[in-house]
Amino acid sequence: KQEFIVDLIDFLMIRFEIDGETFYPWEGKLISWKRWLDLSTGVLHREVVWENSKGERTAFSFERFASFADDHIYAMKASAKPLNYSGRITVTSGLDLRTKTNGQIITETVSVDAENGYLLHEGRTTSKYRFPFMTAAVNSFSEADAEWEAEADSDFVLQRAAFDAREGETYILDKKICISTGRDPVGDMKEFMHSEIALLQGKSYDDLLVEHLAVYQDLMGRLDIQICGDDEADSVVRFSGYHTLISLERNDAVHSFSAKGLTGETYCGFVWWDAEIFQLPPLLKTMPELARQAVMYRYNYLDQARQMAAEEGRRGARYPFTAGVTGLETVWKDVRHPFMQVHGISDVALGVIQYYTATGDDDFLADYGMEMLIEICRYWCDRAEWDEENKRYGIFQVTGTDEHHPYVDNNAYTNYSVAHVLRKTLEYLDLLGERALPASKKAGLRVEELNEFFDLLEKLYLPFDEETGMIPQFDGYFGLSRELEVVAGTSKGGYTQMKQSGLYNKSQVIKQPDVLNLFAFQDLETSDRVYRRNFDYYEARCEAASSLSYCVHSICGSDLDMPEHAYGYLMHTAELDLKDAHGGTKDGVHSGCMAGAWMAVTRGIAGMKFTEKGVSLSPHFIPWWKSIKFYSVWHGMGFIVELDNKYIKVTACECNPEALPLMVNGRAAALAPGETAEFAFSTEARPTIV
Ligand code: BGC
Repeated sequence: KQEFIVDLIDFLMIRFEIDGETFYPWEGKLISWKRWLDLSTGVLHREVVWENSKGERTAFSFERFASFADDHIYAMKASAKPLNYSGRITVTSGLDLRTKTNGQIITETVSVDAENGYLLHEGRTTSKYRFPFMTAAVNSFSEADAEWEAEADSDFVLQRAAFDAREGETYILDKKICISTGRDPVGDMKEFMHSEIALLQGKSYDDLLVEHLAVYQDLMGRLDIQICGDDEADSVVRFSGYHTLISLERNDAVHSFSAKGLTGETYCGFVWWDAEIFQLPPLLKTMPELARQAVMYRYNYLDQARQMAAEEGRRGARYPFTAGVTGLETVWKDVRHPFMQVHGISDVALGVIQYYTATGDDDFLADYGMEMLIEICRYWCDRAEWDEENKRYGIFQVTGTDEHHPYVDNNAYTNYSVAHVLRKTLEYLDLLGERALPASKKAGLRVEELNEFFDLLEKLYLPFDEETGMIPQFDGYFGLSRELEVVAGTSKGGYTQMKQSGLYNKSQVIKQPDVLNLFAFQDLETSDRVYRRNFDYYEARCEAASSLSYCVHSICGSDLDMPEHAYGYLMHTAELDLKDAHGGTKDGVHSGCMAGAWMAVTRGIAGMKFTEKGVSLSPHFIPWWKSIKFYSVWHGMGFIVELDNKYIKVTACECNPEALPLMVNGRAAALAPGETAEFAFSTEARPTIV
């Protein structure tokens, strides 16, 4: 049975009735309509002039935001101004209880309260989990004399006020909302809600906005990338930054990044590998103290991952490919083979590794990270099989990141990731020394098992053809048909054609990058020739039917000094949902893809990589841009990178506790707090005519 992250009740309902006619955009006459999202405030605005059948014109304005200062609070402001009449206006503000999740009603009402000057609804989900939740709305209206009347039935709980409006006057409604669920770590939910209602009664929309902006603008500022000389790139990259920020659950670890954030239902709110590989890095490198929640989310479900491994008869932890709020594999009707996408297990470990690399947080590693890494390595020791013929370990019957090729052997992304996780785990055990003992003890790690880790690392097959320099995506990949080729990175037609003829797994056409992820995200060390050959080959065969493809191709394009590629794919990434380029934007934005834009600029164009020892930068600038500027933080030390065609400038924040270790184009430096260093690019010799 399909599981969902549940949509709670709809609190947006505000209605204005002008002389008996309700303002609906599809009735009467729309004189003007403007709707915009202000990225500098996170506030959604709408301004409308509407005329009813009597020719009475009203200017409406609506704005709303989800508070960054308090995760439970949402605020709305609506106003009406009669432009050419004086007359009777009725304003209604309520909670609509008929919300569906993916077309089904899966909540029910426990109680409603509309008699105390606020609206309060208590409900629960009807699924087997029966999660309780509460919603409250506090309305305040500028027309103090207007009396609120309350009304409640099974569909709505609302308040309504009627008043005589005068031409040219503006009447303003503040609607302040609070939501809590039984999953939130707030103590007693009812007590919590009543204290929030009291708080909302004492504040206006504008007060809440000021509190929201103090947090929102700090966080948006940290994630912001300024691109000078290309206004379009500047604004679409900022838009994708906004979506990256709002997909993070900042203040608790109940849930993690879902593939569409909270913007749509298509992926049911589940957490995929997108979380660790695409959505986490930008936030880890700008606000690690908040991004940590996403790593803790995985730790909190370690027991469930152990349970899933045990159900397979294996040791260790087997994390789900699509996770919800139960920690177990969720059933997703549209995924053909979620159980086979085991790379997701290593991706969870890569989340731990990335967190530690970005923060150097030994406490986290000792208290939580190590235990996860040990359990994941243990799982791989059981999952990998000895291949007697080739005298090596292989990992068989998996689906890599490219979903067109299910049930393959020795998938490159899977095998290389497992080796990376094993190597890092052994390195960290060594690094932590005695501090790793509690985690090893908790995980019950035995010396023989450590030897198994070494053995698997040493003998695991890492697909690579010495002669051609190619990494086969899986055993037998190069033997598949080369006939059904696609236009690189753009077409979805190939997939449909192949699906219809049952050929998609008989062709070399891939849905999304697999081998190239290793270059973009795991900094695979090879020669330029090997990198370029693999890029040329796989990019040409990738039909990019997953939006996660574009940022990978953009990063590779930068690494290989191909600015047209880097730029084209960056724009594809950042504009995807603004242009509805993949279809389905109405069902939610592609949050993983959005997050990829930050990486395409910082990891790609600026060539920024983090190691446990410092930050390295090796830029490949886009020649037709003027400059870029962004912020990042490594081991608690913030810094600003500015880049143009000739220079790269790095400024360490004043408040850094020590010098920031840097490596710019191979040149090492240590930046004292507050210090700026400028590095010139090595310029090619000027051509001369002889
Ligand atoms: C992609 C997966 C991705 C999922 C959620 C699928 O179409 O192939 O790699 O995890 O969407 O974004």
